[in-house]
Amino acid sequence: MAKKLPLVALISGRGSNLKAIIDAHDPLVEIRAVISNRPQAGGLMYAQQAGIPTEVVDHTQFKSRIDFDRTLQTRIDSYQPKLVVLAGFMRILSPEFVAHYQGRLFNIHPALLPAFRGLDTHKRALASGVKEHGASVHFVTADLDAGPVIIQARVPVLADDDEESLAARVLREEHRIYPQAIHWFAEDRLQLQGQHVLLDGQAITR
Ligand code: GAR
Repeated sequence: MAKKLPLVALISGRGSNLKAIIDAHDPLVEIRAVISNRPQAGGLMYAQQAGIPTEVVDHTQFKSRIDFDRTLQTRIDSYQPKLVVLAGFMRILSPEFVAHYQGRLFNIHPALLPAFRGLDTHKRALASGVKEHGASVHFVTADLDAGPVIIQARVPVLADDDEESLAARVLREEHRIYPQAIHWFAEDRLQLQGQHVLLDGQAITR
């Protein structure tokens, strides 16, 4: 069997995307550890139930962002991952951290990037009157939520949607596309080339 892709996941909260990645049971992927910046993150439980090592690097215990990021990096690297995935990780990472994981750091964002970067994406999508919304998995680069997109999922915005109903529709798609993007990476089919993502050597166009 092909060698498994060693992966470390970072979470901050509920962890439903982490659960989707665990439940995918991708034979090409080995989740070596889950690290949370919040001791109370519900998602830690999914890792523990699956027998995956967990750690907490509590950002409130650090004097500066860079101190936090350095410790986080040391902890991540102790597991020697080839891919690091942000799964609802709600901290902005320093350019040094991002550069260290260039081409092997994924994030999932609940919007059709480049639309609605940042927070409260569902609320803002509803307020703007768009007919379509969705989620994006992207490579992380120094600009917040601006890295090149690997895969997106689109959902309709319905007339009677509120934030909750729209978020739930998007979340179902997140749970589908994140394991898919990870699988492509594990198959060695994905590459970050400057601002472009290549799948099987071909640039992905949005
Ligand atoms: C997900 O919707 C994810 O896309 C979003 O946080 C949620 C985490 O849910 N991430 C961001 O907004 C990143 N800027 P989860 O903890 O259940 O996976």
